[in-house]
Formats: sequence, C-alpha cells, structure tokens
Amino acid sequence: LFADHVRIIEVGPRDGLQNEKKSIPVETKIELVNRLARTGLRTIEAGSFVAPKWVPQMAASDKVLSSVLKNPPSSPAPVTYQWLLPNSKGLDNYFKVMNTSASATDGYPTPPPSPQNDDGPALNTSSQDPNAMPASTSGVDSMSKSRGHGSGQKHEVSIFMSATETFSKTNTNCTIQESLDRFRPLMAESKKAGYPVRAYISVALGCPFEGADVDPHRVADIAASLMEMGADELSVADTTGMGTAPATKKLLRTLKEAGIRSEDIAMHFHDTFGQALINTMVSLDHGIRAFDSAVGQLGGCPYSPGATGNVATEDLVYTLHSLGADTGVDLEEVSRIGDWITNEIGKENGSSAGKATLAR
Ligand code: HMG
Ligand code: MG
Repeated sequence: LFADHVRIIEVGPRDGLQNEKKSIPVETKIELVNRLARTGLRTIEAGSFVAPKWVPQMAASDKVLSSVLKNPPSSPAPVTYQWLLPNSKGLDNYFKVMNTSASATDGYPTPPPSPQNDDGPALNTSSQDPNAMPASTSGVDSMSKSRGHGSGQKHEVSIFMSATETFSKTNTNCTIQESLDRFRPLMAESKKAGYPVRAYISVALGCPFEGADVDPHRVADIAASLMEMGADELSVADTTGMGTAPATKKLLRTLKEAGIRSEDIAMHFHDTFGQALINTMVSLDHGIRAFDSAVGQLGGCPYSPGATGNVATEDLVYTLHSLGADTGVDLEEVSRIGDWITNEIGKENGSSAGKATLAR
C-alpha cells in the first residue's frame, strides 16, 4: 500500500512516564532512552524541562540529557533527541545542561553551531518564516563527534500549547494568545542556538473540559501562527483519545485548506478509546508520514483525567510494516523494551502487537 518511509517519534520516555505517580529511578529512564536509541528509532522525546512541582516525574530530565550527551548509546542510525519545555525558564534549564556538558572537563571548548550534516534534522526544517534562522546541527552534536563518540546525535526542542482555552489554562496556566506570545521569542532563541523546534497543539480532537467538538478552524489558525513564527514541525495531538475517523478527516482537511502542508505535521494519538490506529490510517490517507507513539502504550497527560497512553510504538510499527511502509524500527527489540519497561514500573503492557510478537 505505502512504500513510503514513515517517521516514528518515540515519546515514551516523556509522555509515557510523566504521569507515573511512583518515582522512577533516573537510571531506568536513561536505560529506556538508551535501549530505544538502539532499535532504529530516529527520534526520541527523552524528557521535559517543566515545573517539577507539577510534573515531578520529569524532574531528572537534566540528568537524562547529560547522560545522552556524555555517554551516547551506539545507535544503528543517528538519533535526534527532543526535549519538551513550556517557557523561557525551561529553555534556560535546557541550555544550562547543554552548555555545562559542552564545556566539560576534558578540555573541549563549546563549539559554535555547525552547518547541518548530511542526515538532516529529524524535523522538517522548511520553515515558512523567511526570517527564521536556518536550522543547524547543534554544537553539542559536533562536540560529541569531536570527542570521538561519532554518534551523530542531534537535539531539538518541543513546545506545547492547546486548542481550547480551558485546557490551555489548566496545562500551561495561560491563554492561547499568551502561549503564542511566549513562543515567538522562545522559538527564535532556540533556533538561533541551533535547536529546531516542534510545536504541539493539544486537545485538537477533543478536550476533557470542553468536549469532543473542538473547532478544527481554531486548530488550523493556531497551526498557521506556529508555522508563521518558525515551527519546524507541528504535532497535532488527540490528548484525550476522543478523536474518531471522521473528526480526524475533517481536521486534516481543514489544516490543508488553511495551507498547512502534510510534511509539516506529525499526528499524536492517545489510544483511550482504541481509535489511534484507525485515525493513523485516515492520516496516512491524507499524506501524513510522521506519528508519535510510546513503547508499551505508556502514558497519559497529568491534565487530562482518564486519558490513557499514546498509541503503542509496537502496534504502530506492526501496522505500518503490514502496509509496506518502512520505519527502520526493529519490532522485536521495541517489543522487548515495552515488556521490560512496563514490568519495571509495574504496569500492564498495553501493546497487543508487542505481546504477540514476544509470544511467537
Ligand atoms: P507558571 O505560570 O510559572 O506558574 O508555570 P505555576 O504556578 O504553574 O508554577 C510556578 C512555579 O513553577 C515557580 O516555582 C516557577 O519558577 C516554576 P516556585 O516559585 O513555586 O518555586 N516553573 C518552572 N520550574 C522549572 N522549569 C520550568 C518552570 N516553569 C515554571 N520550565 C507552567 C506554568 C506551565 C510552566 C508550569 O505550570 C508547568 O511546567 N506545568 C507542567 C505542564 C506539563 O508538563 N504538562 C504535561 C506536558 S504537555 C502534554 O503532556 C501534552 C502532549 O503530550 C501533547 C498531547 O497529548 O496533548 C505534549
Ligand atoms: Mg500526549
């Protein structure tokens, strides 16, 4: 059906773990990221720089980032790591780790951002903003090469806002307009430092407070604003899993009519109602070739009561491979990781394809 390459953005270490009540040792988080990096996954959202009083589970993300920088896992393909953050404080904390690691003890100076290398960033950097800085490989990437790691790793920033006012207030303590105002300088600063930016639009297919009928035109307006200010990719999120095939179709049509290109969109489906793969099929039909998922079907948003995990990476890979798509991901290995991490944190493995693959 689809001979195309489909890019999977593994969000398990961030979206998957952020909602876990019991504190997960940082060593486990690092092991999760390192193991995922060896499966052929090219993009991993590995942590977030948010307020620890609201999302304590992500408080050790600085340590995860340090570890990735200092001891990059040997991956079959260069991996891009993404770091979620809501504001300038988050960006400062992210830069702090980057700069500390870049000027670490072994005498290598902090290198300036270098030109993009052949692999290109994970994000589509064809920004519509003519004034936007060209995305470049981060200084840290060239630093890790100069230290002989040769991992080719790259780093990107993810920011997040909402399609409804109520969710915006709950999740980010500001209005939709305030989010946009906050992101303009944030995006510019991140891109200037060489870190491409992905922007999430939450509750695009249903809001826990305002219901299932989120206006797709509102999502499209937000998407257009984010692209205009230089976003390198949009992640359009069904936070609650309320999205249905017709609603997904309507949303993607509306985005297209508003001039948002399918190459600039990744879809982020939570699987609360078991519709994530159906909505994935609809999205593939509309030309979408990037999807977020979490190994073991981990996850849930702390501000979306009752919402369950992201679509499982194992299920997504299985479906995409069955369609003839190329993901580059080793299904058996991600299945083993899904089994391991859900066991580690005392959760049931939510991936049907993962369990079936291991039982074969
Ligand atoms: P605020 O407006 O500053 O107000 O932050 P606040 O009262 O919520 O927090 C204030 C305290 O947090 C202050 O500390 C700040 O310094 C601190 P205090 O003076 O009380 O000691 N603070 C921070 N600390 C570290 N890093 C930061 C930071 N920012 C403030 N970056 C804000 C509002 C939204 C930033 C904050 O409430 C926050 O970080 N909330 C967590 C939001 C979050 O992580 N949500 C989950 C991720 S989004 C998601 O899961 C959806 C997604 O998966 C897509 C989808 O499915 O929809 C992406
Ligand atoms: Mg999510």
